[in-house]
Amino acid sequence: MSVKEQSQTSNYPKVRIRAAHPGAHGTMVEMARVRVEPAGFEFEAPLNETVMDAANAAGYFWPVGCNRNGECTNCAMEVFSGVGRLSGMGRFERANLIRQRGARSVEDPRIRLACQARVLGDVVVYKSGVRPDTI
Ligand code: FES
Repeated sequence: MSVKEQSQTSNYPKVRIRAAHPGAHGTMVEMARVRVEPAGFEFEAPLNETVMDAANAAGYFWPVGCNRNGECTNCAMEVFSGVGRLSGMGRFERANLIRQRGARSVEDPRIRLACQARVLGDVVVYKSGVRPDTI
């Protein structure tokens, strides 16, 4: 099954109710759910956290090749569900995707950098190489 077919047949809900969890100093932090395929890892992400930071905080390794600053594009992921529930692509992310992967890479809005895309709601993404960080 192709990636496109998988995203079209997804049984994931389009919107989930956000949970709130105690954050630092007892403040309530709204959380969203991130699912990473093909491994099927799921974790909660504080709103406005990058996908990568949320994955790292949940104990997962995410492939990187730079200082998580949007330059290498090794963290690129495909968004299966919830493109509109990620922060918009900035000029720096766009410029580096073009520089590293060619102009066609920004024609598909589902291709995003996990170190730049901030979680605004529940999303399902595809990224091979994500694994529990046991080192
Ligand atoms: S980790 Fe290098 S661009 Fe995201």
